[in-house]
Amino acid sequence: MKKLVVLTGAGMSAESGISTFRDSNGLWEKYRIEEVASPIAWENDPETVMRFYNLRRKQLFEVHPNEGHKSLVSLEDKFDVQIITQNVDDLHERAGSSNVLHLHGELKKVRSTGYPELIYTLDNWELKIGDTCEKGHQLRPHIVWFGEGVPMMGKAAEIAEQADIFVVIGTSMAVYPAAGLISYVKQDVPKYYIDPKAFHVSGISNLKIISEKAGNGVPRLVNELLKND
Ligand code: OAD
Repeated sequence: MKKLVVLTGAGMSAESGISTFRDSNGLWEKYRIEEVASPIAWENDPETVMRFYNLRRKQLFEVHPNEGHKSLVSLEDKFDVQIITQNVDDLHERAGSSNVLHLHGELKKVRSTGYPELIYTLDNWELKIGDTCEKGHQLRPHIVWFGEGVPMMGKAAEIAEQADIFVVIGTSMAVYPAAGLISYVKQDVPKYYIDPKAFHVSGISNLKIISEKAGNGVPRLVNELLKND
């Protein structure tokens, strides 16, 4: 089976009702990264950081996978599909995708500030000051903040190197190291980039740009790939 690797960003979930970050009206127009998504913010004002992620998590319990997420699942009939997502939502999993690697963490998970290997899945949206791990340490969102390492990057790069087909969906390709993943993909591998503003990449060989929203562009590409391979 050919290995089909999909890299997704916030645009993948936009039609499910989750805001992107850098579009007009995006999250980073309403919040300052250094006040809600950095280790310093957590140190100075953990309540504000928690409130930001609690709002995101609350919303996640109210939204559903869109046609884009759903159509990716059918690729598994013919391909060995690996999704690498920058998204912290669980919409790929809820749509039914089998292999999803989260580069920037997961909104529904929290981890111990004292023992980072202690990771828990929340069954409701709220994390509070005073919520601790079994060893008594405060829990924090299981999110990769700006200024922190990206522990899954090595694995993601390995996967990108093995791709026979590489598909990028709904990302501004503005945040590294995730945006650099495409450079690990072999030159002769066919690459597709679905994004209504897909002008962020240049100098990538064998790249087909599909300037459409994920809800239309992904099912269309999926049909094409299933027909041709
Ligand atoms: P961005 O907000 O930077 O980019 C979203 C992309 O989605 C843009 O290129 C839009 O054109 C595109 N888009 C919008 N609506 C779309 C739709 N319906 N279908 C397809 N594409 C659409 O989000 P990311 O690239 O995901 O990290 O941002 C990368 C990282 O920066 C995030 O994971 C997050 C953020 O800060 C952390 O919080 C660590």
